[in-house]
Amino acid sequence: MSKITIKKIQSWKNKKNFSAITAYDFTSAKIINQTNIPIILVGDSASMISYGYSSTVPISMDEIILVTRAVSRAASSSFVVGDMPFGSYQHSVSMAVKNAARFLKDGGASAIKLEGGILVQKQINKIVDFGIPVMGHVGLTPQSVNQLSGYSVQGKGLESAQKILDDARAVEDAGAFAVVLECIPIELAKKITSSLSIPTIGIGSGKYCDGQIQVFNDILGLNDDFFPKHAKRYLSLQKSIVSALKKYNNEVVNSSFPEKKHSTSYKKNIIDKLV
Ligand code: KIV
Repeated sequence: MSKITIKKIQSWKNKKNFSAITAYDFTSAKIINQTNIPIILVGDSASMISYGYSSTVPISMDEIILVTRAVSRAASSSFVVGDMPFGSYQHSVSMAVKNAARFLKDGGASAIKLEGGILVQKQINKIVDFGIPVMGHVGLTPQSVNQLSGYSVQGKGLESAQKILDDARAVEDAGAFAVVLECIPIELAKKITSSLSIPTIGIGSGKYCDGQIQVFNDILGLNDDFFPKHAKRYLSLQKSIVSALKKYNNEVVNSSFPEKKHSTSYKKNIIDKLV
């Protein structure tokens, strides 16, 4: 399959639903590459998933570039988007452009994503001017968890719904090729989707978005301690992995692994000749 482009993604607006998924390492990106999922986001959720931090706030540019590079090496057909970490684009346009460029130069991604609307319009505009496709992200913006006092659904009241619509429009006006709508009411997502000419990609925002995005570890059940409402579990990998690892441990302890077929024997007597 040839590499997905932003032109292709934009051609799906109002024509077909499409999926996107996060990835954080070479092996999972290689597996995703065998599916028809066209977009891989190297999400800043790597902060918790790959590095064990408690939110998306601490992850650094260097940390996310490392995982982006690994994912990009595996993704020969999917379109790879790198997620700009908290603090890498907010305080100046020039810093935003410099860090966005690193995702392409050092990370091998084809685009970047950043959170916010009107407040980051200048950043989006300049990054796009420099030839870097931008995916916007409005609604619940996890990098603002401290300001939002948690991860609750956004846009429930008239004022906040209007702000999210305005932010989505600002992202489109600034030149973004698509926008993520995270955890907003289904009716608001529908309204934004029909108001914009760029594709909307929903997570916890209902079926009227043009595309959907999910976190790899959520839908494959890799973490039994955490399961967000917006995710559907297609597998229970943590359970299967724990049971396989326990079996391995037991077999080593009771000497039933390795078997003869798992190792090699000399054809001639070498051992007795060793001094
Ligand atoms: O980092 C992330 O996981 C995200 C979601 C929108 C998928 O940004």
